Amino acid sequence: SDYNADKRHRSSEESQHGSPETLSAHRQQYERNFPLYKQPVEVGFFSLDSHRNFFNDQRQLRYYVQPRKSPDFNLRDGYTSRFVKRDDSVKERLDHLLQWIRVNRDKIQTRDQTPSSSALGVDFVTWRGHLTKVLTTPYETQEGWLLAVSKFRGTIYISEVETEAARVNRETRSERQEEMMYWGYKFEQYMCADDVDGTPDPGGIVNTNEAFCTVVQTRLADHKLLFSGEVDCRVKDPDAPPAPGCYVELKTSAEICTPKQQSNFHRYKLLKWWAQSFLPGVPQIVAGFRDHDGIVVSVETFQTSKISQLIKNEYNCWKPTVCMNFCSDFLSFVKSVVKEDDPRLVYLFRWDPHRDVTYTVHRDSQYTFLPDWYTKDMKS
Ligand code: A3P
Ligand code: MG
Ligand code: MG
Repeated sequence: SDYNADKRHRSSEESQHGSPETLSAHRQQYERNFPLYKQPVEVGFFSLDSHRNFFNDQRQLRYYVQPRKSPDFNLRDGYTSRFVKRDDSVKERLDHLLQWIRVNRDKIQTRDQTPSSSALGVDFVTWRGHLTKVLTTPYETQEGWLLAVSKFRGTIYISEVETEAARVNRETRSERQEEMMYWGYKFEQYMCADDVDGTPDPGGIVNTNEAFCTVVQTRLADHKLLFSGEVDCRVKDPDAPPAPGCYVELKTSAEICTPKQQSNFHRYKLLKWWAQSFLPGVPQIVAGFRDHDGIVVSVETFQTSKISQLIKNEYNCWKPTVCMNFCSDFLSFVKSVVKEDDPRLVYLFRWDPHRDVTYTVHRDSQYTFLPDWYTKDMKS
């Protein structure tokens, strides 16, 4: 089924079909004016419960609770006695987002289109996390990615495939790494209440199956996007701006003690934090800085829109415009390659650090990801 798996070895010249075979990820090529990025609009949301069941509502949305001046959060507390970990060997692909689309097609904003049209009226459907990886590609030196892409009824769907290297990492995590993955979720528990009039319950269970996801629409250059991402919490104020403006992203990071640590935080961590929150229009990020024993020593708020100012003093630092222009060009590249409208056909885009983006084509393979229940339903 891999009838042109040799494509990645060809040159970057144009193919017979007139579309390029590869895309450069060199940051210098993307230093131009910031592309149009429309304010993301929330068109819906959904929740996943402790069993990973889908609900077309906001039952899992939590509320941000400002901590005391000197919080005494111990992120190790409850590991592993009050921890239920999601099984991350289960590949969910786009399924929950497709479930949302199936029951909320009428919520998707379409211009110049009759409501009865079978097309969704967007160019791309994907997870926010996949786009975050695309945005940070020009600066990534450690981890590559694999993105499976299919076109169905005029819309291009993008679903990540775990790389071999990522699978090996996942299967060989140390006990320390396993515990530290818990710390981020434990911080969320200390910072969030389940109800608007409630307070956090640090004695409860941390269950990483539970999630609240926003679904947003926006446009990057001439690409109409619909994507979903997990949201940690919202501010309690009912007069706060409408979603996604009321959302808050929570993060943890090692405490910063040296100029070198400060520089690394700016160069690597803030890039990922900015990309993740900028995409869905989440305006604030609340960070808990913790010591080696998992004790939170300080809590600091970052305005997503001000992060690019914060990092400008770093030599040779990352630039939002490079991230967004690379993403825009990648989506143009995908559009030029993915011509056949067939959910059983997957174009597999691959990027490895220090390489160009390449692709292979696979029919009826292990990579097919649009489920029959979705393609059957969307025909009516
Ligand atoms: P921190 O990033 O604060 O450590 P998110 O911040 O995206 O809401 O994710 C919540 C937590 O999930 C993270 O908190 C971290 O503990 C864990 N997590 C998310 N992505 C991860 C990854 N790629 N590897 C390891 N842990 C991850
Ligand atoms: Mg989260
Ligand atoms: Mg978070």
